[in-house]
Amino acid sequence: MNKSDYIIRLENTNDYREVENLTREAFWNVYRPGCYEHYVLHIYRDKEDFIPQLDFVMEKDGRIIGHIMYVNAEIICDDGKKIPIMTFGPISILPEFQKMGYGKKLLDYSMEKAKELGAGALCMEGNIDFYSKSGFEVASSKGIHYYAEPKENVVPYFLCKELKEGFLKGISGTYYTPKGYFVDEQDVEKFDLDFPPKKKLKLPGQLV
Ligand SMILES: CC(C)(COP(=O)(O)OP(=O)(O)OC[C@H]1O[C@@H](n2cnc3c(N)ncnc32)[C@H](O)[C@@H]1OP(=O)(O)O)[C@@H](O)C(=O)NCCC(=O)NCCS
Repeated sequence: MNKSDYIIRLENTNDYREVENLTREAFWNVYRPGCYEHYVLHIYRDKEDFIPQLDFVMEKDGRIIGHIMYVNAEIICDDGKKIPIMTFGPISILPEFQKMGYGKKLLDYSMEKAKELGAGALCMEGNIDFYSKSGFEVASSKGIHYYAEPKENVVPYFLCKELKEGFLKGISGTYYTPKGYFVDEQDVEKFDLDFPPKKKLKLPGQLV
């Protein structure tokens, strides 16, 4: 990859199906047999907490090879105060372009734009091995508790990053994954019928 062999631009309505298919290709059988993420993206674009200014595609030689979307979220502090932050995902790179540096470029670009839009911090669930390269840390080290785990647990897949230095300093609170990320399995099945058939496989390393 060289500096000029891709562009990053906002997604537009003509891209929707191509990007959903790309998301499906990237996530298929990775975390579970089949995947949900293309449906999450499909329904999220119409939700109030979706951030259209941060809905980016990465294009190479006229083909979309990557995508990322962002959502407004919050940390509920122990004293009840709400701290607005952002989360993101799905982030996808087409399988044949993975591990070539494109995912990091897309993530880093989008985080710069999120910062310009005013985001002070990001929280998300993901693999620290990839996200640490872009400055993410395990969120419990910053006093943020993941809603679905016991408070005393260090949750290695729950990550955060300050976009404004010190934004999370002194915080003690809980992050709840935005509701839009929770989808009904039957709705996913129905939606998936519109895509080319793909075999669901139970593979080692899947989460579900
Ligand atoms: C995760 C994903 C977006 C990363 O994009 P990518 O283009 O493959 O990653 P990059 O090549 O930019 O990787 C940057 C660094 O992270 C590492 N990395 C990438 N994916 C990794 C993974 N799954 N596990 C561990 N390390 C990973 C790379 O080895 C590279 O390290 P280096 O800088 O030391 O060489 C992409 O692989 C993908 O779409 N995966 C399937 C969907 C998915 O899991 N999305 C994220 C859900 S949280």
